[in-house]
Amino acid sequence: MSLISLRGIEKYYGTYHALRGIDLDIGAGEFFSLLGPSGCGKTTLLRVIAGFEGVSEGTVTISDRDMTRVPPNKRPTNMVFQSYAIFPHLTVAQNVAFGLRRRSDLNRQAKDTLVEEALDMVGLGGFGARASTALSGGQRQRVALARALVLRPKVLLLDEPLSALDKKMREQMQVELIRLQRQVGITFILVTHDQEEALVMSDRIAVMFDGKIAQLAEAEALYRRPVSRRVAEFIGVMNFLPATVADGVVDAQGLGKIVVEDLQSEATTDGETMVGFRPETATLLFPGQDSEGRVARGTVSEVVYYGDMTYYDVRLDGCERPVRISMRNVFGRPVLDIGAEARLAWSPGALTLFR
Ligand SMILES: Nc1ncnc2c1ncn2[C@@H]1O[C@H](COP(=O)(O)OP(=O)(O)O)[C@@H](O)[C@H]1O
Ligand SMILES: [Mg+2]
Repeated sequence: MSLISLRGIEKYYGTYHALRGIDLDIGAGEFFSLLGPSGCGKTTLLRVIAGFEGVSEGTVTISDRDMTRVPPNKRPTNMVFQSYAIFPHLTVAQNVAFGLRRRSDLNRQAKDTLVEEALDMVGLGGFGARASTALSGGQRQRVALARALVLRPKVLLLDEPLSALDKKMREQMQVELIRLQRQVGITFILVTHDQEEALVMSDRIAVMFDGKIAQLAEAEALYRRPVSRRVAEFIGVMNFLPATVADGVVDAQGLGKIVVEDLQSEATTDGETMVGFRPETATLLFPGQDSEGRVARGTVSEVVYYGDMTYYDVRLDGCERPVRISMRNVFGRPVLDIGAEARLAWSPGALTLFR
């Protein structure tokens, strides 16, 4: 049963076609992400769900009710904005209580209790009396979260909520948001342009390009089975090699011939195409190491050392462009040098054939 159903959503800003035929179902209690490059329509779609934007065509259903023309304050949704507006002249508790300003049915004491509970949820219990100017960036973002949560919405909409934080704080808040979502059990819809953030946090991810959903899948499926080159390139790194398909056999530059059934592919047709594989799905063999599987030969053209990992660019024999291979470093084993002979162990099952 879906909590939110979008059907045939079209959105024009004047003549600009910002959302194109969006069909989407999001379940109760799901952590869902909208992922895509800047300008692809993520914020617009979030605002359509919240009711801040009307649609040109289509319907928005929440909890089985048609909400297409219902204003934001009458929807069971609440939004945390990209630039979290905390009022500096109010205390932490007053900032959170601002989320309850329309609830004239609640007395002062009931409001205080809700505020304190919301602050507890975001790890700011006991901070209520503090001046909001005395908070760090991460704490201020938590106040914004508490203000949205205090209304106990069914759906929390988060528009790039962590983009203003530095890397360490962002990673910490990612973990806290996951914990918070599990704890309160409400649906989170997160907008992000950061693929790693989406993979880390979400149950399911919709990848958007040009106002359309290009792929909707669980994080792992999205990474392992991208439906197009564009999705594959947006989610992590993928190596592409030109290939020719004929009579159920793929001939890939640098790798040789592979039976189509052995690799991942949707429908195939004969002709020119591409095969792709992720950097961690192939292994460089070190001197003295052997492999029972298939081995391609080439030369190491670049080495980037990351401490725990080394990234190698390898130019396979017969290839114009190098492929990137990531290897976990093993203590005591030297890193291969630029110019070294490379033997690359790979398996057909890790290859994706693109149309
Ligand atoms: N109020 C508006 N008026 C006109 N164009 C807009 C408006 N809001 C967004 N757009 C345009 O719609 C497209 C999608 O915007 P947006 O949803 O903000 O993308 P994202 O959040 O993915 O970066 C962009 O090209 C943007 O310039
Ligand atoms: Mg945006």
